[in-house]
Amino acid sequence: MELYFSNESYKKKAMHLAANPPIHYHSAQEAFDLLMGSDNSTHPQNWKLHCINVGRVCGMLAEKCGVDCEHARALGYVHDIGRWQIHSFDHALRGFEILVDQGWEAEAIGCLTHSFLNGGRCANNEEALSDFFVDPDGRPGWKEGHCPDDVEEFLSRYAYTDFDLFLNVADLMATSKGIVTPVERLNDIATRRQIDPVNRGYFLAEFTNTLNGLGRRIEQITGCKDSAFDRELYYYREGMTIEEITYRLTAASSAFYKLIC
Ligand SMILES: [Fe+2]
Repeated sequence: MELYFSNESYKKKAMHLAANPPIHYHSAQEAFDLLMGSDNSTHPQNWKLHCINVGRVCGMLAEKCGVDCEHARALGYVHDIGRWQIHSFDHALRGFEILVDQGWEAEAIGCLTHSFLNGGRCANNEEALSDFFVDPDGRPGWKEGHCPDDVEEFLSRYAYTDFDLFLNVADLMATSKGIVTPVERLNDIATRRQIDPVNRGYFLAEFTNTLNGLGRRIEQITGCKDSAFDRELYYYREGMTIEEITYRLTAASSAFYKLIC
């Protein structure tokens, strides 16, 4: 699914923010209130419970890494706010637009980054775009003549921060019921939709590397001597099977959950 803003002014704003990321942040409490503000029901909808848990994991990761927990939690609470309007993949863009309209520009960026591991436009659970391919060495690319959509343009101009990294990982560890291992979360997502075969191996390899990298970083900070995380980077190369990369991911997933929970 190609992703476009609903009008040119949002696109202009996104490209401006990509080059000039804001430094004014809202507090975690303000973000929580914004998320829950419109919910008049006695039981918040599942996606809001998921957001609350994403905020919790973001805060835990930030604390472990010694960075601003408030901002990390706030990003987690509002990252899916586009679901006020729509539940398709478009929720990322609608969320950005809602938050920009309310003057939440720093948090709006998280709406655009939360589904794309390390800024890879197709490093996610969704169907890859038709021009996308992964070469025999496992490197992603675009066919000649490919025309980037708005999100791809944004991602190509924006440098991910720790907060975007935390948000991506937290989104893949939080369900509406609580915090789970990344593999459990992927299984939970798979009950609703299949991961696309074109980018599945690439995404699983990216996710394995992300968990191993962040896990090793947290181990270093906490002074752990016996690393439970691989140093090797994985690429979904020709000849590698989905089972093989899933095996690597499962090891990283269990070690990561143990480390932070
Ligand atoms: Fe989410």
